[in-house]
Amino acid sequence: MSIVITGNPGVGKHTISKEVAKNLELDILDINKIAKDEGLFEKNQDTNDIDTRKLGKIFSEKNLEKNVIVGHLAPYILDLQQVKIMIVLRRNPYDLITVYKDRGYTDKKSIENTGSEVLGIITHDAKSKFQNKVFQVNSSGKSIEDVVKKVMSIISSNKGNEEVDWLDLVTKNNDLKKFFVD
Ligand SMILES: Nc1ncnc2c1ncn2[C@@H]1O[C@H](COP(=O)(O)OP(=O)(O)OP(=O)(O)O)[C@@H](O)[C@H]1O
Ligand SMILES: [Mg+2]
Repeated sequence: MSIVITGNPGVGKHTISKEVAKNLELDILDINKIAKDEGLFEKNQDTNDIDTRKLGKIFSEKNLEKNVIVGHLAPYILDLQQVKIMIVLRRNPYDLITVYKDRGYTDKKSIENTGSEVLGIITHDAKSKFQNKVFQVNSSGKSIEDVVKKVMSIISSNKGNEEVDWLDLVTKNNDLKKFFVD
């Protein structure tokens, strides 16, 4: 069983996982990297589709005892018995807009990913499959060091979930259009 760190692109998965893996003396298994190495990316205009069924099969054949598994697809390709704990990193969608701009994402790709963060889709999907193994951590307004500390504390105590509701924030700011209209 593995520790899993997931969440939308740009929430800080790799930054945080690197430190967590170092602290626990585990190796990082990067889902996107494995998908790429196995030739499972299908390029469609500006999005990348991945064959999650094939990817799931590849993971089902791996020994996952000494790993921190990282990637936004984790909830869709892993099985309950492969997961010890699943951390969903959350990040303020207004900050994500900046991250995506810096990365040169198209408007379409940016709005898809910020919309997913506003609605908490990965959390929803993770909870429906992995239930009480899922913990959210809000990385916004925290230093990287503090996010790492929080994640380490959840891993060792199995408690400390943070509730996140960006939809409430975005609605109050009257900004729904910013995240859901092209
Ligand atoms: N707590 C934090 N506070 C401020 N900036 C952060 C924090 N965590 C990560 N970052 C910064 O946010 C950016 C995105 O982080 P990172 O690349 O780790 O995200 P990711 O979730 O791995 O993205 P992807 O899914 O695309 O690989 C980086 O520039 C990183 O330095
Ligand atoms: Mg990354």
